[in-house]
Amino acid sequence: MEKLFQVVDQRLAGYLEQLKAFLSMPSVSADPENKAITADTARWLADHLKSIGFPTAEIYPTEGHPILFAHYPGPAGAPTLLIYGHYDVQPVDPLNEWVTPPFQPDIREGRIYARGASDDKGQLFAHIKAVETVLRETGSLPVSIKLLFEGEEEVGSEALGKWLPAHKDLLACDVLLISDGGMIAKGQPSIDYGLRGLVYMQVEVEAAKSDLHSGSFGGAVANPINVLADILTSMKDKKNRVKIAGFYDDVLPISPEEKANYAKLPHSDKQFLKDTGAPKLFGEKGYTTLERKSARPTLDANGIWGGFAGEGAKTVLPARAGAKVSMRLVPNQDPKKISDAFRAHVAKVAPKAVRVKVSEFQGGLPFICPLTDPALQKAAQALTMVFGKECLFGREGGSIPIVADFSALLKAPVVLMGFGLPNENAHAPNENFDLDNFSKGIKSSIAYMHLLAEK
Ligand code: BES
Ligand code: MN
Ligand code: MN
Repeated sequence: MEKLFQVVDQRLAGYLEQLKAFLSMPSVSADPENKAITADTARWLADHLKSIGFPTAEIYPTEGHPILFAHYPGPAGAPTLLIYGHYDVQPVDPLNEWVTPPFQPDIREGRIYARGASDDKGQLFAHIKAVETVLRETGSLPVSIKLLFEGEEEVGSEALGKWLPAHKDLLACDVLLISDGGMIAKGQPSIDYGLRGLVYMQVEVEAAKSDLHSGSFGGAVANPINVLADILTSMKDKKNRVKIAGFYDDVLPISPEEKANYAKLPHSDKQFLKDTGAPKLFGEKGYTTLERKSARPTLDANGIWGGFAGEGAKTVLPARAGAKVSMRLVPNQDPKKISDAFRAHVAKVAPKAVRVKVSEFQGGLPFICPLTDPALQKAAQALTMVFGKECLFGREGGSIPIVADFSALLKAPVVLMGFGLPNENAHAPNENFDLDNFSKGIKSSIAYMHLLAEK
């Protein structure tokens, strides 16, 4: 293994040049204008995989963005490792806050800056480079490798969700590795064993059929902004508990074993507060910051609109207002039950003086897996070996909705092996990826393949 690690170090500069090419493709999945560019990105990846020796790299067109599947068979009887990642990225706005343009990758201070560097192109590419290194040095792989890359993770994985059931046999594997997550801190290897789910709603409130003079009509016709604010504030109490009836019914409590794991994680509220820039931390009473942001469900407004927000004062009674509200779910909350409860809550609190419309966007199930699985333990072993520090276990607050679908369909253990760091500005301006984690990511993937091959 040492020899292979040395080869990674020797080739790193070349690998980085290739990563730059991948990162310069603007595969923003949310932008409907971008179909051709995401398809180009999938084709670029497929060609790249063939160039490093994959006998097949198949592109499956979908109604949305294409799915890419590649397979390199290992020795007879060797286990199969399926690696999932996404080549789509988040939109880049606000563009003027980027120090260098999002699709012109720039290396500075040991990081590569570009949209998608951390989430998820850099991570996914580390596994490809791991396969390439082993193949070029040894002429074969210790395990069978299947790669599955999609182009819609950032918009809800709708196409992949539909595609999965019919391709169950193609994806048959012994371990599913999700290469789209994070590590708790730089230098501290960790594996996530849980993800939060997501329910995403929109609430629109309307009263008069048009904006009105707030002097002539105010006080006699309902104000949709005020009503919307009332609806939103009715959803949480002063202790930050969600007040929607039934919201906590199915929440899986945090076990004593988990508490012990949380206690081992390096976290300082003081540092966390400083990193966020907020004046004080805030959250559900009775839980720690780490628990609040990974093992407890939340309800947050993501955007709000209505009325006059321009310069100066305009005396107007607005006709309508709206908000986007998302809820992060934890096991065993059911997205359908929660969105129904949300609708029922809005219907209950909204006054008759307004019309309210509630709609819903694509969400997803939460996920949790047992820590005892040998596939997970071997992954921890690989990370410990490469990072030279004991691998810890944590739960992630973000969502990868397709993971629960995978787990149910493939019945294989899921390993969330991620190399993103919390300060890498995923989804934000100046997204970046730590180059040390890029090289250690490649090495960890190499180590994991070999550990999996051992009986
Ligand atoms: N890779 C993230 C999820 C994630 C974030 C995992 C941090 C581990 C650490 C993923 O690309 C993502 O952003 N998911 C969305 C899901 C949504 C678009 C359905 C999320 O969590 O908001
Ligand atoms: Mn991601
Ligand atoms: Mn993301």
